[in-house]
Amino acid sequence: MLMKNILVTGGCGFIGSNFIRFLLEESNYQGKVINLDALTYAANPESLADIAERYPQRYTFVRADICDKEALQEVFEEHPIDAICHFAAESHVDRSISGPGAFIQTNLIGTFNLLEMARHYQERIALFHHVSTDEVFGSLGAEGFFTESTPYKPNSPYSASKAGSDHLVRAYHKTYGLPVTISNCSNNYGPCQFPEKLIPLIILNAREGKSLPVYGDGSNVRDWLYVTDHCRAIWLIMTEGKHGETYNVGGDNEMANLQVVESICDIVDRLAGPLPEGPRRQLITFVKDRPGHDWRYAIDFSKIRSSLNWEPTETFDTGLEKTVRWYLDNTTWVERVRSGEYRAWIEKQYGE
Ligand code: NAD
Ligand code: TYD
Repeated sequence: MLMKNILVTGGCGFIGSNFIRFLLEESNYQGKVINLDALTYAANPESLADIAERYPQRYTFVRADICDKEALQEVFEEHPIDAICHFAAESHVDRSISGPGAFIQTNLIGTFNLLEMARHYQERIALFHHVSTDEVFGSLGAEGFFTESTPYKPNSPYSASKAGSDHLVRAYHKTYGLPVTISNCSNNYGPCQFPEKLIPLIILNAREGKSLPVYGDGSNVRDWLYVTDHCRAIWLIMTEGKHGETYNVGGDNEMANLQVVESICDIVDRLAGPLPEGPRRQLITFVKDRPGHDWRYAIDFSKIRSSLNWEPTETFDTGLEKTVRWYLDNTTWVERVRSGEYRAWIEKQYGE
């Protein structure tokens, strides 16, 4: 079945907006995109303002909540959706610790609602692709990698809610024959990420000469993947992946948090010029650790490499330099997010 009307949920968030840009500008996809997003604090439709203008025939935005079954029903009735790429989620671990409720609602109940909708319209659904995280596997010690058969052992309310949603997606394939694929990806970085996550937060604080908070001793390790490499992997899985299968996606870029923060300091010093008080590394401040902080994530992505011929193209050096440049150059996007003005625009445009 050919995909002609792809519903992208969470398309105003970080990865979703990059995915829509990739789909319309860089992939071989010829059809339409329906971007369904509730526009939570993490969403910024301004990330896609140029896309909305340039592709009026192929790009539609609908403000709707995946927890609202009636709203979903209306979207499926109005648009001949034949594929779903599901990004919409509450995505920040720290927020899941201070307020897990929204994570259960969106990540579990919202995914369930979407699966039910796909089941209802199953005869026209070519694919339900579920975007998930490596955090479902829990934490590694110094050795080893997550593979597709690593048992799930989530440690935060965020990762537990994502693990539950992965199981639901898999169950809908086994039980109802829904054509599904799942990807479990490592930490992404790149343009348009909300500056509460490590990399954009550190870039912007470094630019402004503010303190750079590093949790614990900064030894926790993440496997960083440039967002466009992730988008390319998702599209490959959607077009060539095997239904019912999961694919691990990683960057082959393991890095301790302290090393990431130091690299950002050095790039910002070089690109923006040093601060009068000296190199930005002096701004690093070790703060209280995150409760239940996973120590190390590392992905074995040999399955997607051998079966779909995917590999990351950015190294951490090239990807980080691009990302820092993006945040330094896109001052309007940054200032509107930092000041909260982007919310006023959303309210004016879509009503809150
Ligand atoms: P994000 O927080 O930047 O964006 C999430 C988007 O979902 C926002 O636009 C938000 O408005 C929307 N949303 C939230 N609740 C909604 C609801 N109830 N109904 C409709 N829309 C809703 O997240 P992201 O970093 O772009 O992550 C996207 C997906 O990728 C998530 O499923 C996440 O678990 C997964 N993932 C993220 C990473 C990462 O490093 N960021 C890594 C692996 C997997
Ligand atoms: P984050 O970007 O929140 O992603 P995740 O928790 O999903 O991996 O955090 C990345 C790593 O950086 C994680 O080990 C926590 C750490 N961290 C800090 O040290 N300081 C910060 O201010 C933030 C937001 C994260």
